[in-house]
Amino acid sequence: MLDLRTVRKHFGRLAAVAGVSLRVEAGEIVGLIGPNGSGKSTLLSTIAGAYCPDDGEILLDGQPIGGLAPDQIFARGLARSYQDPSLFFRMSALDNALLPARNQRGERARQALWRGRWWGQERANTAEAAAILHDLKLEARAQAPAADLSGGQMKLLEIGRTLMGEPRLLLLDEPTAGVAPGLAYTIFEEIERMRRLHRLTFLIVEHRLEILFDFVDRLYVMHLGQVIADGKPAEIEKNALVREVYFGE
Ligand SMILES: Nc1ncnc2c1ncn2[C@@H]1O[C@H](COP(=O)(O)OP(=O)(O)OP(=O)(O)O)[C@@H](O)[C@H]1O
Ligand SMILES: [Mg+2]
Repeated sequence: MLDLRTVRKHFGRLAAVAGVSLRVEAGEIVGLIGPNGSGKSTLLSTIAGAYCPDDGEILLDGQPIGGLAPDQIFARGLARSYQDPSLFFRMSALDNALLPARNQRGERARQALWRGRWWGQERANTAEAAAILHDLKLEARAQAPAADLSGGQMKLLEIGRTLMGEPRLLLLDEPTAGVAPGLAYTIFEEIERMRRLHRLTFLIVEHRLEILFDFVDRLYVMHLGQVIADGKPAEIEKNALVREVYFGE
């Protein structure tokens, strides 16, 4: 589903992503780990179109997407969440969840004038967003400003919100960063449930390896902008180079 071939992204003289090749097959949960500053977030932003790659190829379903605008990549079924929750903090949790819904008639100037043309769709979308909040146990917070949610609830809302855009591939940047341990496990159970229910595919950056290793099919390890290892959790745990750069052994 996702195929990266020697992708590069430089910031001035810093090669944040220095020739990364990786693949994610449909239906997989793939982990992406590595020490601070190894280029994980930059790689996700480059895949999602926030940055234009300086070199290399990014293929989604075999089609090149490198250099397309974020909305064009989103339209092809790729959605992402951010390391620091990127919500509209003064809007309610429910309104945040409603934003990614596709083809909203009320967003078109001519249709917006006639309530009858978008009312039914708006109601259906609202019901769907409310169901997502219910599944995430956020329904009691639906009308609260997103700013009033706990850190863990913000992370959940951000992940749940992507579902409204009917994505096929999700890039998640540290879904449990700053979340209490109990809720962190719940977030990954939710990810696993979303994969089953909606047939989703995931590429997940995460520092909490003890949780991540329980849920991923495979992992890639980055260091200084490059992939230094990949394999199943048990293989990565044993890899001497990974232990050296990541665990400081
Ligand atoms: N917008 C930017 N401008 C300049 N340098 C950047 C920018 N974004 C990231 N960097 C640098 O690129 C390198 C990779 O950063 P990145 O955020 O991708 O790492 P990361 O693996 O996500 O780290 P962490 O685990 O701490 O989130 C770092 O040296 C960082 O300082
Ligand atoms: Mg990061």
